[in-house]
Amino acid sequence: MHAYFTEEGSVEAVNARMGKDINPRLAQVMASLVKHLHAFAKEVELTQDEWDYGIDFLTRTGQICSAERQEFILLSDTLGVSMLVDAINNRRPAGATENTVFGPFHVDGAPIREHGSSINLDGKGETCLYEGRVIDLDGEPIAGAIVDVWSDNADGFYDVQQPGIQPKWNNRGRFVTGSDGKYSFVGIKPVSYPIPDDGPVGQMLGHLGRHPYRPAHMHYLVTAPGFQKVVTHTFVGGDPYLESDTVFGVKETLVAPFEHVRGVTEWRSPFDFVMVPADGKPGE
Ligand code: BEZ
Ligand code: FE
Repeated sequence: MHAYFTEEGSVEAVNARMGKDINPRLAQVMASLVKHLHAFAKEVELTQDEWDYGIDFLTRTGQICSAERQEFILLSDTLGVSMLVDAINNRRPAGATENTVFGPFHVDGAPIREHGSSINLDGKGETCLYEGRVIDLDGEPIAGAIVDVWSDNADGFYDVQQPGIQPKWNNRGRFVTGSDGKYSFVGIKPVSYPIPDDGPVGQMLGHLGRHPYRPAHMHYLVTAPGFQKVVTHTFVGGDPYLESDTVFGVKETLVAPFEHVRGVTEWRSPFDFVMVPADGKPGE
């Protein structure tokens, strides 16, 4: 083992400095991080200018962050790391509803609304009836599940991006299932929109020849006592960005039907949420 730093022994030089009595998981994670970071610099023969640029990029990413703007989450999302960590931590049996990226626009404490009521407070957009059931892997209804929903408005912005322009809680609400497990609400047929791209992450996407768009989707956070929480969206089939979502959030099972109807709403989108027990053992 090298006492002094050398190019060849760089990983060992750094990792040998770790204390013996530190948190073992921290030791494992940091040793691997150092190993892969050094391997990356060696593989591409990173130049000083490139590393300086990288440090400046991360500095600017931190500087633009605020309570309302989380540029590091956007960085994680656009590099596919958010979806990867989610996939590693939410492996589910076939038939269970899959997770996707949470995103930065959820707000805790949305109003609890009556089933069938509208979350669309600005009156813009094409109306859509969302309905279905929250069930377990055996198809049994789950009572007392909270279906927390949020979407952009017809102009492609969440209410929190336009305070003073959109009504508070526009296109948001929570619905609590009864003994039949059913939920229903009226929202809009969402539209595709760009993630905030006026900061370093937007510049990165531009340099990489990538667009900043997400395909149209309705967000869901479904929770129920004794079950794993489901953080997901349903996507509008046929959206031009389905195969190039800038945050890699699309999964085939999450592309929902959007049927044109001649009823109270212009569209109807049925979707059931299938939850897995919190202990991961289906059916127990
Ligand atoms: C969203 O769907 O709200 C979202 C997800 C990731 C980054 C930005 C927005
Ligand atoms: Fe979204």
